[in-house]
Amino acid sequence: MIPNKEQAILLLKENLKEKANLEHCYLIGFGMQGLANYFGEDKDYWFVVGLLHDLDLECFGGDINKHTLVAEKILQEKGIDQKLIEDIKSHNDAVGLERKTKLQHALYSLDGLTGIIRAYVLMRPDKDITKAETKSIIKKLKDKYFACSVNREQIYLCEKTLDLPIEKFIEITLEEIKQNYKLEWLIMPKLNYAKIPVITTVQLRKAFERNGFKADEVNHKHIKFKDIHGNEFILRKGNKDYTKFVIKEIIQRFAKAKGITEEEALKLLFEKK
Ligand SMILES: [Fe+2]
Ligand SMILES: [Fe+2]
Repeated sequence: MIPNKEQAILLLKENLKEKANLEHCYLIGFGMQGLANYFGEDKDYWFVVGLLHDLDLECFGGDINKHTLVAEKILQEKGIDQKLIEDIKSHNDAVGLERKTKLQHALYSLDGLTGIIRAYVLMRPDKDITKAETKSIIKKLKDKYFACSVNREQIYLCEKTLDLPIEKFIEITLEEIKQNYKLEWLIMPKLNYAKIPVITTVQLRKAFERNGFKADEVNHKHIKFKDIHGNEFILRKGNKDYTKFVIKEIIQRFAKAKGITEEEALKLLFEKK
């Protein structure tokens, strides 16, 4: 069977609990719905594929080769049509399926684009997606230091595979997402900075290193951290604790560089492992 929208939402919520993951799936679902509308395709089906494309994100175990294959099992047990499962699997390059249909190409490019859209909204002081405009998203897309983990090539493929200029691709998806923003899932709260721990230079250095930044001694007063994408953070050394103000700044810059929420950045940087 093919689940309807309500059934798909229930299925999603059974399997994903992290807010960031749920938001990602909703953004893709509504983006797909907008594209289906534009192409005169089945809006509900495209929404459902988009919504469920990362169903196993919290249970595939971190091995990219298993991503979507774990979802396949979950969906087969629920009696979901193999056609829908194949559409979902097509977005993971590691599975190695050749993308053939418009829907599959749309899902692939949108997976990248929504990363930029979400990072852009999070960066706005008002966190208001209804104020996002295509031209601002394009600007961020062209800035290779913004949400640098998002693969730009994947997004630009829409020009070839969907025959849609990038501006049109963004406009169609963004407008549909904006129309649906009222739902509870797109409210991105600001981080409560009272939760920030007091931290020493040594702890901070370890936190950065855990997240792929290399520490580089600049001089006796400063340390520079650099990641493979060229993001740099320069911090004052010394055995004094960092103030909340400095840590807040670090978290905000780190979140922006990675295209994640401040809450997620706080967890990544300071959660004890
Ligand atoms: Fe995925
Ligand atoms: Fe995804």
